[in-house]
Amino acid sequence: MTRHLLTLSGVTPGGVAALLDLAADIKARPRVPEYAQALCGRTLGMLFDKHSTRTRISFEVAMNQLGGAALLISTQDSQLGRGESVSDTARTLSRYVDGLMIRTFGHPCIEEWAQHSSVPVINGLTDLAHPCQALGDLLTIRERFGALKGREMAYVGDGNNVVHSLMEAAALTGMTLRVATPPGYAPAPEVVRTTARLADSGGGRVSVGTDPFVAVTSAQVVYTDVWASMGQEASAEQRKHEFERYQVNGDLLGRAAPDAIFMHCLPAYRGLEVSAEVMDGPRSAVFDQAENRLHIQKAILLRLLTGAGI
Ligand code: CP
Ligand code: NVA
Repeated sequence: MTRHLLTLSGVTPGGVAALLDLAADIKARPRVPEYAQALCGRTLGMLFDKHSTRTRISFEVAMNQLGGAALLISTQDSQLGRGESVSDTARTLSRYVDGLMIRTFGHPCIEEWAQHSSVPVINGLTDLAHPCQALGDLLTIRERFGALKGREMAYVGDGNNVVHSLMEAAALTGMTLRVATPPGYAPAPEVVRTTARLADSGGGRVSVGTDPFVAVTSAQVVYTDVWASMGQEASAEQRKHEFERYQVNGDLLGRAAPDAIFMHCLPAYRGLEVSAEVMDGPRSAVFDQAENRLHIQKAILLRLLTGAGI
């Protein structure tokens, strides 16, 4: 059981399954008092060191719809912007709010927040992981195909935060995930090791290679993400050349299973990691993914802010 949600490495297969069931029930019955008043009087503090549309808005709306409130804490305007330490800020904010959702750069930074915070800390994206995204994506895949166990997914593109959390999610839920990145852009070795450990309990099969066509062949889910993540702007031009073969377009998607869907965490850049034809085509599930961030995060907030854990 985990009190904070920094990565999926501390979550059990049963914990994921229970969270998905709860999210599905919340999605089906959002207005029942059991959910609509569940977090009455509670406040989530939100801190962003990077841009966001989905994460920021969906967490704020989630808190409102659960009867609580969300508070955007500016990292620049607070004393953090003048050098007050994370540890003192975490201990101070813990006296006011019931949970903290943080988007930042280095993963050690959010670990420091969690270490000094007496309220739950939720990772809204670090350079290493994006667990809320992966959990929402499991909900989307389950809605489309039913049981997750044995489902085949391909991820084509950069070995980044999004695929790191997808690898852990696939391992925990018994899915098969084939990752294809350009040479030199593979997922972090530490995440590959954690994934192998999680697969022992969850039964998933995760492999990492460089051939997008091998990865996609027979997959029911084809996933990609931006070639240059936030903080990697300086290498964006160079990446455009190195990632050229990794665009998800009609040709690549044509190798997947006949009922395959296309997934992307968004924001997307048409003409780079995905063609407009695929992004806006009938197989695209990207806005269902965006919606499901709301439902899964309500489940996460319910479990963590009431002290139940995941
Ligand atoms: N997918 C995602 O986290 O989107 P935002 O960057 O808009 O929050
Ligand atoms: N990998 C992307 C995801 C954005 C939601 C980034 O970190 O910028």
